[in-house]
Amino acid sequence: MEVIIQPSAEAVAKIAARMLARQLLENPASVLGLATGSTPLLLYRELIAMRLDWSRVTTFNLDEYVGLPRTHAQSYHSFMWKNLFRHINIARENIHIPDGMAEDIPKCCADYERRIRDAGGIDLQVLGIGTDGHIGFNEPTSSLASRTRIKTLAERTRRDNARFFGSEDAVPRHVITMGIGTIMEARLNLLLAFGENKARAIAEAVEGPVSSAHPASMLQMHPVVKVCLDEAAASRLQRIDYYRWVYANKPAWQAI
Ligand code: PGA
Repeated sequence: MEVIIQPSAEAVAKIAARMLARQLLENPASVLGLATGSTPLLLYRELIAMRLDWSRVTTFNLDEYVGLPRTHAQSYHSFMWKNLFRHINIARENIHIPDGMAEDIPKCCADYERRIRDAGGIDLQVLGIGTDGHIGFNEPTSSLASRTRIKTLAERTRRDNARFFGSEDAVPRHVITMGIGTIMEARLNLLLAFGENKARAIAEAVEGPVSSAHPASMLQMHPVVKVCLDEAAASRLQRIDYYRWVYANKPAWQAI
């Protein structure tokens, strides 16, 4: 894991945007895994401002709420169109988001996995982290080998997301999410976290034991993970001086 600590969320978003831009320049037909929630918003704003060519890019989103129509203001379909897709030149047919209204959810999940495989796999996956350590919507005790499937949200996640829905009761209980096994097959994982309320989850993910009790800790088993944090999200890390030194002394050929 490479831990990159920046003074502000804006500075993190700029670095993350540069990584994505480099990916698209190196391979204009890249396959990207995308995330929703508050975390990637600044990154998407940066990417829009960069005016990159998305015409050959394929995207797969991590997750979607079950039972919300696409047009619902809080569906991840709506989120992605509002915050990224309608501002870039991506082809509609290259966009993939799980269908939360699917009648046959197991089939929908199996199809999603097949589509990722058929696209050649995900080159770069953007991840946020839940306060309970979830990635995608893989809540604690999710199988570390899991694939795209239906999950039941933990109460803590429903509480965290109540801010988007007005009340906790309105937050759906079920979601479709890529599994941890799916995320582990992305060639590069880019985990972003901002704010003090993510500090514990980040410390457990980066420095804790690998455990399904902290799903993001599985990323320790992935060969190429960049963890990009603001100071507050990094504040509970034990080896913070080491991470800072590594980043400040990167050889030129490793520059981001
Ligand atoms: P957030 O959610 O970006 O809204 O904090 C992160 C997550 O649940 O993965």
